[in-house]
Amino acid sequence: MDQNNGQNRGQWNSKLGFVLAASGSAVGLGNIWRFPFMAGANGGGAFVLVYFILLVIIGFTLMLGELSIGRATQLSPIGAYRKLKAKYAWIGALGVVAGFLILSFYSVIGGWVIRYLVKGISGDFNVADGSVLGDLFVNFITNPLEPLVYHGIFMVLTLLIVIGGVSKGIERYSKILMPMLFVMMVLLMFRSLTLPGAMEGVKFLLVPDFSKINAQVVLAALGQVFFSLSLGMGTMITYGSYLRKDENLISSSIEIPLIDTAIAFIAGLAILPAVFAFGFDPEGGPGLLFITLPAVFSQMPLGSIFAILFFLLVLFAALTSSISLLEVVVSYTVDEWKWSRKLSTIVLAGAIFLLGIPSSLGQGVWSHIRLFGRDILDNVDFLASNILLPFGGMMMCIFIGWVWGVDKALNEVTNGGKISFPLKTFWVVMIKYVAPLAIFIVFVQATGILDLILGN
Ligand code: TRP
Repeated sequence: MDQNNGQNRGQWNSKLGFVLAASGSAVGLGNIWRFPFMAGANGGGAFVLVYFILLVIIGFTLMLGELSIGRATQLSPIGAYRKLKAKYAWIGALGVVAGFLILSFYSVIGGWVIRYLVKGISGDFNVADGSVLGDLFVNFITNPLEPLVYHGIFMVLTLLIVIGGVSKGIERYSKILMPMLFVMMVLLMFRSLTLPGAMEGVKFLLVPDFSKINAQVVLAALGQVFFSLSLGMGTMITYGSYLRKDENLISSSIEIPLIDTAIAFIAGLAILPAVFAFGFDPEGGPGLLFITLPAVFSQMPLGSIFAILFFLLVLFAALTSSISLLEVVVSYTVDEWKWSRKLSTIVLAGAIFLLGIPSSLGQGVWSHIRLFGRDILDNVDFLASNILLPFGGMMMCIFIGWVWGVDKALNEVTNGGKISFPLKTFWVVMIKYVAPLAIFIVFVQATGILDLILGN
């Protein structure tokens, strides 16, 4: 980014820089940790199929929508909505709440990654025995204190990057580290796919069992699209606000979801075949990554070195995402409450750390606290990812389609008519009707509101 462009606002220097930075926000624990266990818990291929359909309908549509609002206004979310139509600033505020909640548990998982990095370095888990790996994991997350320390370390790392204003430096590294992560994931995938019994897992992930598709699976896939692409809370509005007016929003809105999905999919193909090969439970939940991959590493030459490198790259990917979450929250207090950047970052990171504590304790000492059959972390995740993000996305569609107006949005998308947009009709129909209606219907179905009203 170039800080001296007269408007006193940073801008991406190159198209590649932007796509990499936005992909840095998108690619993170959502792809490597969340996608595989969500697919595992929601019927495998059924989930993946619904995910792909929603990615095309909603992912592309909303990515382009958020980027166009950002670039049109050159402001962060609340200011952006306010500038276009003051009454709707609350959509931006809703996103801030979602970001706050997401980062609280994201950081807990980020802490787990740091712990596994450390464990890898000390050579603790170089075994193929599933029950040993399972015990290692459970002993760690049920411990009241240790995970909190790592949660704190992750939050401090995020805070330091955001305070230091070195996000740009981080983005420079992502040009090297993101491709490295990609190569690493591909290697792991090959090792997994060649394990005896791996094909069961490939089938599980690729062949949809249509009988498994129900409203809950669709809601889970919808939440995953939002979470993985960093949509629904205004992150991409902020990123779009740094884009130059001659940059092509359309191609970016295709490239970012493609990169993001490729990594998620490869992660799925690295983890689920191994789950079957080692006889783990595909419905194992949030621990899937941490239990399965060490078993894969144990079956690789130089496995412990790969393990260290892997968790280091995952940590990096998680940090490029967590800084984008914290930035949105911080820019709120800086813009709206006129707090200094430093104060905002410290106070908010502290608050988010505290908010994450119950999610961490819910794995052990507070594991009896359950709601809707889910522990605390899963409930916070569910509320933020499956409810708040899609709701924010739905409101943004309605906002663009019916308040701001598709003509103005299209003018921004096509750079004032300078670039052709062959998918124009598709996008307009999606953003005005299909995407918001689809989200609404998934909500109604999944929550059973209609049944309640109709008294069934
Ligand atoms: N997309 C990131 C991941 O997959 C997480 C993330 C960053 C995010 N910013 C976001 C999720 C904004 C939702 C909204 O790890």
